[in-house]
Amino acid sequence: MFYELSNPLTKTLITQLRNQKSEALLFRHTIAELTKQLLYEALKDFPLSKKKTTTWRGEEHCMALDEANILVVTVLRAGMPMLESVMQTLPNATAGFLAIKRDEVTHKSKLYYDRVPDCQGKTIFLVDPMVATGGSLLDAIELLKSRKALRIITLNIIGSPEGLERVNAAYPDVDIYIAQIDEGLNAEKYIIPGLGDAGDRAYNT
Ligand code: PRP
Ligand code: URA
Repeated sequence: MFYELSNPLTKTLITQLRNQKSEALLFRHTIAELTKQLLYEALKDFPLSKKKTTTWRGEEHCMALDEANILVVTVLRAGMPMLESVMQTLPNATAGFLAIKRDEVTHKSKLYYDRVPDCQGKTIFLVDPMVATGGSLLDAIELLKSRKALRIITLNIIGSPEGLERVNAAYPDVDIYIAQIDEGLNAEKYIIPGLGDAGDRAYNT
């Protein structure tokens, strides 16, 4: 399933990302803001459970998300501002890290670092701003599935229709929340209009 955000604020923030004059600090901040919008949408139907809480009236059972069962997995580098944003909102969630790099000539993704804690029975938010060919997201989902994740939800900022279709065809049970679906890919497999290389934009390289 794809869910594309449609709020005018989302479109405004996407334009801010496309603006080459947005420097790295603003770029990361904007990615973080968009991530919160995606997270709110993705959490809309999540169950709540009772949490024993010391309130001003004494001990009560108040409603809360079960953060202990949420694992946030980021794809380095460009996913880092997204991970920070989710962890600010859900400070008791667990974090995992994958490093995946696209080869600049073949455009094929390669996993080269994996520091993901136990996934069994967990709901996973997989965060990566860009879905171009979809190869990086497919690699990450394959790994998380092999670790027996209960449910996988991806949060992405900009995607190409072909990359998203590829992921959806391979894993129809994965829910994809995306801020903006763009026109397509160019010959170098960059998203058009896109925003360029998200990792470079975020970290001044
Ligand atoms: C970017 C992005 C995705 C990937 C998308 O990472 O963060 O992980 O490209 O491309 P794909 O859908 O064709 O696989 P990149 O490999 O450029 O690494 P970086 O974050 O270190 O710049
Ligand atoms: N990775 C990016 O950061 N941007 C693209 O357009 C494609 C892959």
